[in-house]
Amino acid sequence: MTDVTFAPAGRLRGSVVAPPDKSISHRAAIFGAMASEPVSITGYLHAEDTHSTLNAVRALGALVEERGEEIVVRGVGLRDPREPDGIIDVGNAGTLMRLLPGWLAAQEGRSFTLDGDASIRRRPVDRIAVPLRQMGAEIEATDGRFPPFTVHGRRLHGTSYEMPVASAQVKSCVLLAGVAAEGATTLIEPQPSRDHTERMLARMGVQLHRSGRHLTISAADELEAESLVVPGDASSAAFWLTAGVLVPNARLLVKNVNVNWTRIGFVRILLRMGGVVVGGLEDPTDDEIPGHEPVSDLDVAAGPLEATTVEPAEVPLAIDELPLVALLGCFAEGETVVRGAEELKVKESDRIATVVDGLNGLGGDLEATDDGFVVRGTGGLRGGEIDAAGDHRIAMLGAIAGLASKEGVTVRGMEAAAVSYPTFTDDLAHLLG
Ligand code: S3P
Repeated sequence: MTDVTFAPAGRLRGSVVAPPDKSISHRAAIFGAMASEPVSITGYLHAEDTHSTLNAVRALGALVEERGEEIVVRGVGLRDPREPDGIIDVGNAGTLMRLLPGWLAAQEGRSFTLDGDASIRRRPVDRIAVPLRQMGAEIEATDGRFPPFTVHGRRLHGTSYEMPVASAQVKSCVLLAGVAAEGATTLIEPQPSRDHTERMLARMGVQLHRSGRHLTISAADELEAESLVVPGDASSAAFWLTAGVLVPNARLLVKNVNVNWTRIGFVRILLRMGGVVVGGLEDPTDDEIPGHEPVSDLDVAAGPLEATTVEPAEVPLAIDELPLVALLGCFAEGETVVRGAEELKVKESDRIATVVDGLNGLGGDLEATDDGFVVRGTGGLRGGEIDAAGDHRIAMLGAIAGLASKEGVTVRGMEAAAVSYPTFTDDLAHLLG
């Protein structure tokens, strides 16, 4: 385990390019493997999670050539993934674990077993098993709901499924099954969630139709795209936006950020709290599904903050950034409340517990609730030690807390950041000048 101490930042200036998006990289590799012709992917994220995905698609028979900035995936087509010799190891990657079975469930006569690290074994898969069974698949999970689990491929039929929670992973899994099923599949979403799957499938020639909460996908014969581009990750950028607001006199430019409106709920919360962020944010798109991802450079400056309440409908659009909302709340005037976020309990760690305990250990005043947390702003954080609990986002949360604290923060287990952002400490060193 690596302990790293982050001292209060005297100066934080300059520009940083957001690392490639993790969600979109997973999708590019999986959809590339499903395609019949080679797909060139530029800007693929080289991190632990997304390497698990490259290894998974290789195990299914796809060829992956790495050519510097570009990777080329030579896929096996919609119906020809091979049955691997052993298990498919998803490592720490929940997105890989929940998306891939949608495709695999449609592979008649073949079986696939997925497993991962200790954190993955605590994350439920019944949320994908329920709709996939409704489409005709057979799935056996440990204790009925956890990895390791086996997907027995069957001929799938389209369905209509009302999702109990807004989850882009579950939505994407059902959409992938829908591409390879017979007939059309309709999903009814309780609230919007990130729509990268819809955009990329539209780009690859799949017919998708949205009408309010209903999203319908038609079965396809093949997926096709010569090239896919991965933009910068809004969730990784959020660490710099937070540092830019909290570190006195900071002035940062975060470049090439994906500003898809379904990913920038955090920026909208930050603006409401009084943060100064300038850049071209995408407006919510209506029912039409764009076949691209918008990007922008975001300029951020330090300033005073006011508390806010994050309502349940905002949660799916800022889910991975809620730990940063808690940190901002420690510095804001008043009481910041996050509601309707019980999903945080089943992330890479129980993020209600790790955020509340972690920031309280640094001098914060937070209280866990059943569906989120309450943060009483105390004007700042003393500092101290925080355990990353093997969670990449908690490790980087601790680092940013350290920069903005009075006495600095030691993060226990900083190596977890490599899951999504391996160059985090190098980028920070550059900004500290
Ligand atoms: C993701 C969706 C979110 C998010 C995760 C990545 C995705 O999970 O927390 O980090 O790539 O679709 P849920 O859809 O399960 O909320």
